Amino acid sequence: MTPSLYNEDLVVRPTMDIEVPLLQTYVDGLDRALGGGIPRGSTVLVAGTPGTMKTSLILWMMHENARLNGVKSLYVSLEQDMDSLKAGAARMGMKNLHESSVYILDMGQLRRGLARSESSKDWFTILYEIIKEAVSASGYGVLALDSLEALYALSEIKTPRREMFHFLSSIKELGLTTFLIAEQPFGSTRLAQWGEDFLADGILNLRQVEVGETDVQLRLRCIKMRWMNHDHNALALNHDGQKFFVTHVISKKK
Ligand SMILES: Nc1ncnc2c1ncn2[C@@H]1O[C@H](COP(=O)(O)OP(=O)(O)OP(=O)(O)O)[C@@H](O)[C@H]1O
Ligand SMILES: [Mg+2]
Repeated sequence: MTPSLYNEDLVVRPTMDIEVPLLQTYVDGLDRALGGGIPRGSTVLVAGTPGTMKTSLILWMMHENARLNGVKSLYVSLEQDMDSLKAGAARMGMKNLHESSVYILDMGQLRRGLARSESSKDWFTILYEIIKEAVSASGYGVLALDSLEALYALSEIKTPRREMFHFLSSIKELGLTTFLIAEQPFGSTRLAQWGEDFLADGILNLRQVEVGETDVQLRLRCIKMRWMNHDHNALALNHDGQKFFVTHVISKKK
């Protein structure tokens, strides 16, 4: 059979018959594919290879929720500093990130918080305490931690899986919708190192896929989203300079 181009249908199913307050992503087409959005209070793993717009996508959701719904967000960046994040966001249509209700906490500020903490405390505890304090002081509704790998690199944890379980359970009790960004090495099929994929309520996977000889497409797939009857197919994630949107995947069928 001769190879032909085909469009995979964007399958949209309604949400299940339970009332779940949802956080919209404001990525055109994605909320529909998720069955309406992301259940508030969920912990969502955002796993992707380098440069797959993990940071930009989450900042976008935060930016739009601040702009349209007045939701406050806290973005904890363990590697990239605040100025670099803001500059990247501005190039992607988030020009007033600094004026909106998206608060970025970077390593510089965290280290100042660390200086006030007891030296015996580990990074998981320090980070949890800083987040808890920030949430009770400012009423954040959404949290992002970028990235899990950077957190592991800082902490010398002996029992990572157990500590991760405790950390995520404590974060969950704060009631925030939480995005955990995980860096996936090229070629790896593993989404996370210490079972975070099982602990998380939802998983969004981002990867670059070669289409034909020359084209590369950025693809987003919702692998799981508890309580939602979501589309499991891969979607192409695009940004037109102003906003994010998903489209049907175009691939070569043999
Ligand atoms: N309009 C656009 N369309 C497609 N890609 C873009 C656009 N603008 C920027 N990019 C790409 O987005 C990537 C940067 O996005 P971002 O920093 O959010 O990715 P990331 O997955 O967080 O990266 P890292 O792995 O370094 O943390 C760069 O590779 C950049 O070339
Ligand atoms: Mg990033």
